[in-house]
Amino acid sequence: MLKGQYVTAVLLAAGKGERMEGGPPKQYADVGGEQMYFRSLRTLISSELVDALVLVVPSVGPPSPVPIEAMGFTKLRAMVEGGDTRQVSLFRGVRSAPKQTDIVLVHDAARPLLQRWLVDRVLNALDESCDCVIPAVAMGDAVKRVSGERFVTESLSKKGIWRAQTPQASRIGAMKQALKSAEQSGLEAEDCSELLAAAGFRVKAVDGDPMNMKVTRREDLDLVRTLVAARPPLRNRRRTAFPGIRQHRR
Ligand code: CTP
Ligand code: MG
Repeated sequence: MLKGQYVTAVLLAAGKGERMEGGPPKQYADVGGEQMYFRSLRTLISSELVDALVLVVPSVGPPSPVPIEAMGFTKLRAMVEGGDTRQVSLFRGVRSAPKQTDIVLVHDAARPLLQRWLVDRVLNALDESCDCVIPAVAMGDAVKRVSGERFVTESLSKKGIWRAQTPQASRIGAMKQALKSAEQSGLEAEDCSELLAAAGFRVKAVDGDPMNMKVTRREDLDLVRTLVAARPPLRNRRRTAFPGIRQHRR
């Protein structure tokens, strides 16, 4: 990342969580004693590379239980209402970024296990060679096409297939242009990289974090809770159990 760039994180927490089949929207679910969205919010603003954060919340349903002023985070600049689709929520978040923003870093609140080193890795990779950087993990499993009746109809090559994660960093000018052309063409993209690539911008991938999983279904929430419970806070993890062997510090 070029020095002096102003980075605004946009945290998307305006979904309904319909695939969870019941309960409050998943971003408000309890994960280790905190609401899910709050975990990545804290991680994002803890990065020295992030200057501001815009939180996008649902327009209907339970409001965020903590009023923005009460959170006491100076980097938290706005809490705005999202829309019916992720893309509309994204548009509203980007629109509310402070004027001096050079880079928007978009993250799904449904990925609560985000770590600061990944935030910094993604932002640091946004150089002159590209307009957008995403974290991604190379596919390890064999990939199948499965029919509605659960027959395996095709085995696909996993060569060169990566799973995309968030946070995704984009130049704000490119992002605004890409959102505009998507509106004109009717494109409903899965993520920022699809939006930007469709508008002709250059997208790069850096290694993501397999632990940075997305909560989509109930079993994902169970897994995230198990991982959080098994994982002591970072400050307690520095010392290795094996004297003489330095633990890898991220
Ligand atoms: N999101 C959003 N606004 C929407 C839809 C999604 O801000 N209208 C956010 C979600 O809160 C989530 C992220 O985008 O953090 C990824 O979306 P997804 O995992 O699909 O969440 P939901 O849309 O809430 O879940 P579902 O599709 O099962 O309803
Ligand atoms: Mg959704």
